[in-house]
Amino acid sequence: MSRKSSSASAQKILIVDDEADVAYSFQRVLAEEPVEVVGVTSGTEAFKGLKKDVYDLVLLDVRIGLEHGIEIFRQIRKEYPRQLVIVMTAHGTAQTAIEAMKLGAFDYILKPFDVPELLSILRRGLQAAASIKELASEEGEKVAEDKSFTPGLIGASSAMQKIYKLVGQVARADAAVLLVGESGTGKELVARAIYANSPLAARPYVAINCAAIPDTLLESELFGHERGAFTGALTQRIGKFERADGGTIFLDEIGDMPLALQAKLLRVLQNGEFQRLGGDQTLRTKVRVIAATNKDLTAMVKEKTFREDLYYRIHVVQIQLPPLRERAEDVLPLAEHFLKRAGKDRGLKFSSASKKALQSWRWPGNVRELENAITRAVVCAAAESIEPGDLPPEVVGVASARQVGGETGWWSMVSQVAGEGGDLLAAGEKILVEKALGEANGNVKRASEILGVTRAALRTRVERYGLAGQD
Ligand SMILES: Nc1ncnc2c1ncn2[C@@H]1O[C@H](COP(=O)(O)OP(=O)(O)OP(=O)(O)O)[C@@H](O)[C@H]1O
Ligand SMILES: [Mg+2]
Repeated sequence: MSRKSSSASAQKILIVDDEADVAYSFQRVLAEEPVEVVGVTSGTEAFKGLKKDVYDLVLLDVRIGLEHGIEIFRQIRKEYPRQLVIVMTAHGTAQTAIEAMKLGAFDYILKPFDVPELLSILRRGLQAAASIKELASEEGEKVAEDKSFTPGLIGASSAMQKIYKLVGQVARADAAVLLVGESGTGKELVARAIYANSPLAARPYVAINCAAIPDTLLESELFGHERGAFTGALTQRIGKFERADGGTIFLDEIGDMPLALQAKLLRVLQNGEFQRLGGDQTLRTKVRVIAATNKDLTAMVKEKTFREDLYYRIHVVQIQLPPLRERAEDVLPLAEHFLKRAGKDRGLKFSSASKKALQSWRWPGNVRELENAITRAVVCAAAESIEPGDLPPEVVGVASARQVGGETGWWSMVSQVAGEGGDLLAAGEKILVEKALGEANGNVKRASEILGVTRAALRTRVERYGLAGQD
């Protein structure tokens, strides 16, 4: 083997040619380029090299000189379907070149070489290899960044303790995990925690939100497409399943995946096989799957909008994330965490009134709603403490109605009528209508005059709240 020393970040080319001179002349031609060239003279050596190292490009001689050149090529395609291969062939053997292109070669070079042409083909090949690599690591890097700044999951409630235990247990295995729970409960964060604690933590993590991508594009996002697969498909695209090979894929909002695509997903989960859109080559990928949804998949299975076989495939282990209102003790620690993060060095603190407000709200949007509320409060806060006035009105509104209730009879009455967690606005309206009807001796027309609304408007409410009133 001949080797040219080069920087660690250099791209690598493997040259397979029975004439050792060829690798040597390539080194000379590429002297100015940041590439490392390795030359081998047989198929056996080529496979040894591919096993040991990752090459950006393989240049393969398929002339009669290198016996079974096309056979070696087929074998590379089979074992390393993502490997970019450029074939070298002599003039007059166009058929071999065509054959190679049909089998999926990136390009071909005719011998003897025309140096400028050779350089331009190699540069294109190296560029393609670089963009494939970049795509593959993009997602992984994003996660790596996040990991350094997110200490992880906050909350010490017993409900969360159970979740941490489960995360630890499932992380070790490579079984498929389904995360369910209301919106904003932390499904995405838990998916990342499972990945970060798994033996695959150093491998890629690729996430896709099935609800955020139009149905027509989802298939190509997941499985990729060949050039010309559909109008507008100007270049080949590597899908998420291909990029995630050897790593983890997070299928977010899986309940939103169209039925037609569910079949294709099932196939890749069952035997690791898929095809790019518009391609006829069967590719293989091995990925660990974590899926999430806030939909009721069992109901969807009954309605036949979600495939039953796919459901069983993805929920080998299911983790149900508890809503925030069922773990009230986590609200303040989470709020403090978000305050610290959003408030940076300002040393902001919650006043006791705002703490009370935070603890009394039901948080229908769960942790995400709390996070948004605190981020907004930090922007609003004028002094060094967060006051109720800095929090979103709905949070404070209910808190004061329920807490100041004891002092002002009106609030107390409204929250009593509404009941625990009930609609205070509706309760207030009901009380007003009742009062007006009382004043008007049950006469709807007079009551509507007292309230300054139309008779029809009052009628609707009298019926809605089941009150007695006559026209
Ligand atoms: N236990 C937690 N500790 C710290 N931050 C959390 C926790 N749970 C959720 N968060 C934060 O709350 C936000 C919402 O969480 P996430 O996106 O994981 O929710 P989700 O369950 O995926 O919601 P959806 O169903 O709407 O997609 C995120 O910014 C996340 O970082
Ligand atoms: Mg989510």
